[in-house]
Amino acid sequence: MRFEAAEPLNALARRALGFVKDDTAVGLGAGRAATAFVRALAARVRAGLRVRGVPVSEATAGLAAELGIPLVGLEAEIDVTVDGADEVDPDLDLIKGYGGALVRERIVAAASRRQIILVERDKLVPQLGSRGRLPVEVIPFALPLCLHRLAALGLRPTLRMVGERPFVTDNGNVLVDCAVEPIGDPPGLERTLRAIPGVVDTGLFLGTADTVLVADGTSVNEWSRQR
Ligand code: A5P
Repeated sequence: MRFEAAEPLNALARRALGFVKDDTAVGLGAGRAATAFVRALAARVRAGLRVRGVPVSEATAGLAAELGIPLVGLEAEIDVTVDGADEVDPDLDLIKGYGGALVRERIVAAASRRQIILVERDKLVPQLGSRGRLPVEVIPFALPLCLHRLAALGLRPTLRMVGERPFVTDNGNVLVDCAVEPIGDPPGLERTLRAIPGVVDTGLFLGTADTVLVADGTSVNEWSRQR
């Protein structure tokens, strides 16, 4: 069957709306899937749903404000956060950050009662690292040291660029993309990376997702973690 490219994302967004309760704060993720959700949520807000959004990026904040979703900060008790991911493994662990946001995504997820992840089928991997890339956010001052340490770990680090300049995150940091093979010990790699002075965060999101909604064309499957 043929469908428009945006249809799977819209199907995911519609399904995610089922997790949103009236009069709650909702974490708003970054990327294409999260953007589809923000648009769907805004339509509900126009129809009378009372929610406050807690955006994980400046881009999401701009879009949500433009669409009329009231925004609040982390002082809110966040009921559910809806976000995307770049890889999802069978344990519902994730790699995030291909789109350039990860630190605020982790903070908002940690402040939320529940994290819902929206992905298309191609993001499902047998093992994290299968797509070959792991983003790491680094304080610019520490970049030479971090590049050296990451290279010593065999991760072939590359500074993410936009044209001629380094990509700068919403937190004023830079992103280093590491070349990875399927990762045998994600918690171990996470500890090793976070121990490098100047590393702010990594794209490994282990144990954060409660539910992953997976679009296969326009049908959506739901997987939930047993807590
Ligand atoms: C932002 O950097 C990310 O963590 C996104 O959640 C991730 O890249 C998925 O984005 P898409 O929904 O655009 O694939």
